[in-house]
Amino acid sequence: MKIKKIGILTSGGDCGGLNAVVRAVTRRAIVKYDWEVYGIKEGTSGLMYRPLQYEKLSLKNFSGNLIRQGGTFLGTTNKGNPFKYPMPNGSFKDFSNDIIEGYNKLELDAFIGIGGDGSMKILKKLADKGNLKFVGIPKTIDNDVDSTEISVGYDTAVEVATNALDMLQPTAASHKRLMILEVMGRDAGHIALNAGIAGGADIILIPEIKYSLKGIARHIEEIRKQGRNHALMIVAEAVKKEDGKKAMIKHGDGQYRLGGIGSYLADKIYKMTKTEARVTVLGHVQRGSQPSPRDRLIGSAFGVYAVDMIANNKFNRIAVWQNRSVTDVHINQIINKSKTVNPSDPLIKIARGLGIYLG
Ligand code: F6P
Repeated sequence: MKIKKIGILTSGGDCGGLNAVVRAVTRRAIVKYDWEVYGIKEGTSGLMYRPLQYEKLSLKNFSGNLIRQGGTFLGTTNKGNPFKYPMPNGSFKDFSNDIIEGYNKLELDAFIGIGGDGSMKILKKLADKGNLKFVGIPKTIDNDVDSTEISVGYDTAVEVATNALDMLQPTAASHKRLMILEVMGRDAGHIALNAGIAGGADIILIPEIKYSLKGIARHIEEIRKQGRNHALMIVAEAVKKEDGKKAMIKHGDGQYRLGGIGSYLADKIYKMTKTEARVTVLGHVQRGSQPSPRDRLIGSAFGVYAVDMIANNKFNRIAVWQNRSVTDVHINQIINKSKTVNPSDPLIKIARGLGIYLG
């Protein structure tokens, strides 16, 4: 089949580097293949709304700023599963047929979806149901997409978390405090482990390794004995409390999200060691920050590669980063999997080698 028109959408939580991907897709599709490119707004929702929400993209869209900007100028949603779309009255409705109809109305020949594991699962289901031609690109600050060493957005999040530790250290020293930085990552400790090493943390807690409060207290005592008046701790949001439960916060809209483990630990550590602790919850700055050079680079590489996949009739596959280059795997290889920190990850040995407490 001859390709003339492709769609591109960003799905799930935003992150740094998404605009670089859309730019690369648009440039490659227009410059190399002379295709038309349609940017779908707010993930699959743009194909669900009537009138359809989309923008025909041209090289003019990317005349300068976008590669430098965080977030996604197309918009996205992490609540928009079209097979189970939340309605204002609390019920759920299946809008998958509307999306397929929207794709056909736009007369798209193929589409590229940028998303994490959850989004890929939904996009694949839609592609199967509507016989849509689909190619995936992995993005998530959590870096938990299987089969790819790195996903778009992760490097920026690590950079932001490392910068935060850089800024916390002087104030920790000024006040002789323990500074606790709570970072995102869902059930994967990649951000905490990597930023913790790069940012000189004394204690790194990740969901994959069990810690003990006694162990943390002993480590803080040792730091004191060594003559240092302050310490830095980084903790991943899904690290569990002593009772084995994750700390959760209920937001105004009734949705629960991970959050609060930093405060929980600060309280416990004060009781055990009388160390004054302060907590910084880094939150969404890990997603909205200006993308790092590496995220722009990987995003650009994924974008060009994904367009070439369409040109080569390679569908139901996702571009992945392996051994310093882009390749692709079948979408089923990443669905329903979560790439958490492997116990044999060399970084764990390195962290321990640096005398960092990990549990
Ligand atoms: O998956 C990306 C992520 O930023 C997680 O690290 C975090 O737990 C979650 O999304 C936050 O979701 P929301 O944007 O809905 O608050």
